[in-house]
Amino acid sequence: MRLVLLGAPGSGKGTQAQILKTELGVPHVSTGDLLRAAVKAGTPLGVKAKAVMEAGQLVSDDIVLGMLEERLAVADAARGFILDGYPRNLAQCEALEQLLARLGQPLEIAIKLEVPGELIVERIAGRAAAEGRKDDTPETVRERLRVYAEQTAPVADHFARLGKLAVVDGVGKLEEVSGRILAALPAGTEEARASA
Ligand code: AP5
Repeated sequence: MRLVLLGAPGSGKGTQAQILKTELGVPHVSTGDLLRAAVKAGTPLGVKAKAVMEAGQLVSDDIVLGMLEERLAVADAARGFILDGYPRNLAQCEALEQLLARLGQPLEIAIKLEVPGELIVERIAGRAAAEGRKDDTPETVRERLRVYAEQTAPVADHFARLGKLAVVDGVGKLEEVSGRILAALPAGTEEARASA
C-alpha cells in the first residue's frame, strides 16, 4: 500500500500512521519526524531546519525531498509506505510524482483527515502540555495553520483532480478513525493485509 495522509496540523496523521503501519505492514514515513531527528542530532541540515520549524514555516523543498528520497530507498519501503507530512505544497506534489515514477511505486491513494479548527487547537494544546514540542506554542500553531491553509490545502484538490483523494472524518476514538481510513482504501487492500 502506498498511501499519503493529509490534514491540518493536529488532525491525527501521525497517530493514525502509527496504528495503520501494523495493519498494513508498511513503514510510517513522516517528514516532520525525519526533520526533528536531524534537529536533535544537530546535523547541518537539522541546524538549518530548526529555526524554520520553530517559526512554523516550511523547510525548503530541496532539503525535504532529499531526506524523503533517502528514506524511501531503505528496504522496508519497497512494499509501500504511509507518507505523513509530504507533499505540503504543489511543487512537492510534482516532486513526489517524479520520485515515485522513478521508483516504479506510484501512489495509490491520499486520505485527508478532517477535524474542526477548535478541536485542532485543543489537541495541539494537549500535546504541548504532554510533550513540549517546540512548534506547539500558540503563536507557532497559528502560523502553521496559516501556512497549511495557504500552501497545503491545495494539495488535496490536486489529488482530487487525479481521482486519488478520499476525505475521512478525523473526529472520534482512534480505532473509529482508523476503521474509516481502512474502509476508504482501494479494493484489494484487504487481501494484501491478509498476506502481509
Ligand atoms: P509535522 O511534524 O508534519 O507536523 P504537522 O503536519 O503540523 O502535524 P502534527 O504532527 O502537528 O499533527 P498530526 O496530524 O500528525 O497529529 P497527531 O497525530 O500528532 O511538521 C512539523 C514541521 O516540520 C512543519 O511545520 C515544517 O516546518 C516541517 N516540515 C514537515 N514536513 C515538511 C515538508 N514536507 N516540507 C516542508 N517542511 C516540512 O495528533 C495531534 C494530537 O492529537 C496528539 O496529541 C494526539 O494524541 C491527539 N489525537 C490524535 N488523534 C486523536 C483523536 N482521534 N482523538 C483525540 N485526540 C487525538
